[in-house]
Amino acid sequence: MPSLVIIGAQWGDEGKGKIVDALADQADVVVRFQGGDNAGHTVFHDGQKFVFHILPCGILRPRAMNLIGGGVVVNPTKLTEELAAIRLPESAWRRRLRISGEAHLILDCHLALDQAAEARRGSLKIGTTQRGIGPAYADRAARTGVRMGDSLEPDYFRARVKICLDSHRALLPKERAREVCDVEKVTEETLALLKPFRDLIVDTGVLLDTARRNGKHILYEGAQGTMLDIGAGTYPYVTSSHTIAGGVCVGTGIGPHAIDRILGVSKAYATRVGEGPFTTELHDATGEILRSIGGEYGATTKRPRRCGWLDIVQLRRAARLNSLDGLILTKLDVLDGLEQIGVCTAYRCGGKRYTEWPANPVDLAKAEPVYTFLPGWKQTTTGATIFQQLPASARAYINQIEHWLDLPVVMISNGQDRKQLITRRKVF
Ligand code: IMP
Repeated sequence: MPSLVIIGAQWGDEGKGKIVDALADQADVVVRFQGGDNAGHTVFHDGQKFVFHILPCGILRPRAMNLIGGGVVVNPTKLTEELAAIRLPESAWRRRLRISGEAHLILDCHLALDQAAEARRGSLKIGTTQRGIGPAYADRAARTGVRMGDSLEPDYFRARVKICLDSHRALLPKERAREVCDVEKVTEETLALLKPFRDLIVDTGVLLDTARRNGKHILYEGAQGTMLDIGAGTYPYVTSSHTIAGGVCVGTGIGPHAIDRILGVSKAYATRVGEGPFTTELHDATGEILRSIGGEYGATTKRPRRCGWLDIVQLRRAARLNSLDGLILTKLDVLDGLEQIGVCTAYRCGGKRYTEWPANPVDLAKAEPVYTFLPGWKQTTTGATIFQQLPASARAYINQIEHWLDLPVVMISNGQDRKQLITRRKVF
């Protein structure tokens, strides 16, 4: 399938980095279409670990062209730092990277606004990554944003920076405003940072259309997850971009027919970082076990992740929102030692039973999970290279998930290593 979309089916951190990394071997083009450096995609290359925040996962592969689409928000300082950290010769990354002129910039004022807004919210804070993501997208919607392509004309760029900073100066403490809202300083510093990228600015839609017509394999790399989508997620505890498959079109400049297959990535259990509803969260020893065995600490912020059982009500919503063709189940091995494994198949709230996501946010916040417990397998799954080698109870667990969701589980990740991946169907 030439155009494949990989989407987080839960609240992010599903292990998309490893999956995209494994699939990138076959990709001619790897594309980020939303989010910014709030993402943290861990990949292993030549035995070395890399965490990509803003660069697409194919950047280390000579064959792949890597695109940052117009739906992404780019912090030029972070982009520069990340390129320096991967120690790729400049000539190599210049050959492999292109950026949409429509991508909006994250400036220092956006970081300051993000921090100030979180501090103001107090106990109602969202728990953002404090990377300036929300304020940059807010500027985009308010038409006060500054775009990558604006940097091609310095005078125009200065005018855009002025509009942006003028709209924020009064909202920040005086001292902070002086630091981050000086038009001349921000213009000069940002233009200097963007200089190496100016000739990499393209219309990603045109490039993708040409690639598709030439039969190239295109991999769209989702960041965050379905339940963090600005529209369909657990609003207001969401990120500010469209994390669902529809985000590919609005974030790159292609139409829906240019997508051939959409796969969702889900852990074999569930996690979430930051605040917001999480019906299957475990506050007990099992939650602790999942956190410690699963290494559930944020790749970007290092915060401990909230852990819980798999939630079929939530995944059913993800399957529908994304038109999922299949599921990729990750971290199966984290469940290896457990006696029994819970799966939430419905919610209960105020005497009502929900098998679909509650429309009422107050019901959602109060919802109790209805669990089915399946037997654990109490043996290692990590050595299995084909489905049939998995313990019978692990196979039964996966078959049951397929049945509940009416969706095939096409790949299973059973360890950190790139090779610890069971492929049941060719997906790309
Ligand atoms: P923001 O994207 O920094 O505005 O944060 C909004 C919410 O999305 C917070 O709950 C974050 O923890 C969450 N979030 C943002 N990026 C990621 C991610 O890559 N993985 C998991 N959660 C994320």
